[in-house]
Amino acid sequence: MAFEITPMKEDEIGVWNKVYWEAFALVEDNLSSLLYPGGFTECTQAFMRNNTRDSLSDPSFSYIFVRDSGTKEILAVACWYFQTEDMSMQEVSDKEEKARKERAEQEPIPGINFGVIAGFREAQAKSKREILAGKRHALLKVLATLPAAQRKGAGAAGLVWGLQRADELGMPAYLEASGMGRPLYVKHGFSEVSTIGQLEMRI
Ligand SMILES: CC(C)(COP(=O)(O)OP(=O)(O)OC[C@H]1O[C@@H](n2cnc3c(N)ncnc32)[C@H](O)[C@@H]1OP(=O)(O)O)[C@@H](O)C(=O)NCCC(=O)NCCS
Repeated sequence: MAFEITPMKEDEIGVWNKVYWEAFALVEDNLSSLLYPGGFTECTQAFMRNNTRDSLSDPSFSYIFVRDSGTKEILAVACWYFQTEDMSMQEVSDKEEKARKERAEQEPIPGINFGVIAGFREAQAKSKREILAGKRHALLKVLATLPAAQRKGAGAAGLVWGLQRADELGMPAYLEASGMGRPLYVKHGFSEVSTIGQLEMRI
């Protein structure tokens, strides 16, 4: 099967999030069900939509669709983040603090566990700080293939798209792998540098 990559447009955010949700929904003990125990409700969708819309204004983010190049059908989604300049550790910690403050100001939304989200974000930030130390990098934030389209190469197409840009920019790539994603990443040259352990959970 041949694939094509198209950038997500603002009016496609809902479709992008639905693919993300459907891909993760079938994974046992998946993170989405911990972060969003209420399911893919209107409230959850609105929250996800707003978050995605906020990041769209930042040119460092690339939200993409992987499509069947013949039928144009959407098969997978990915989100890449390209940090093209080194940051000082002070800038890293200021950025973390800003995100922490925004999370603290978040009004509760039924069906969303902000305690788990905070624990997860803190664990991610700690790992990134220790491993990358502010250095420029390409980060694969999301890779998700619709269940019916899996094992046909769509995930690899979304991965390779970002790896090629990372190569063009001369930057290393970084990601946090799920158990399901691990074989694909290993196949494409990633090696394990750390494990994000038990989530610190707060309610
Ligand atoms: C991980 C995921 C994105 C892979 O997408 P995909 O489109 O199926 O991936 P590909 O078809 O490009 O797979 C390429 C290779 O990855 C490995 N792979 C993919 N799915 C696998 C599975 N279920 N078990 C073992 N290896 C798997 C294989 O090496 C595969 O090559 P092969 O089919 O020639 O053996 C998809 O399974 C998914 O969306 N999972 C749920 C969400 C998730 O965990 N995302 C990753 C977050 S880091």
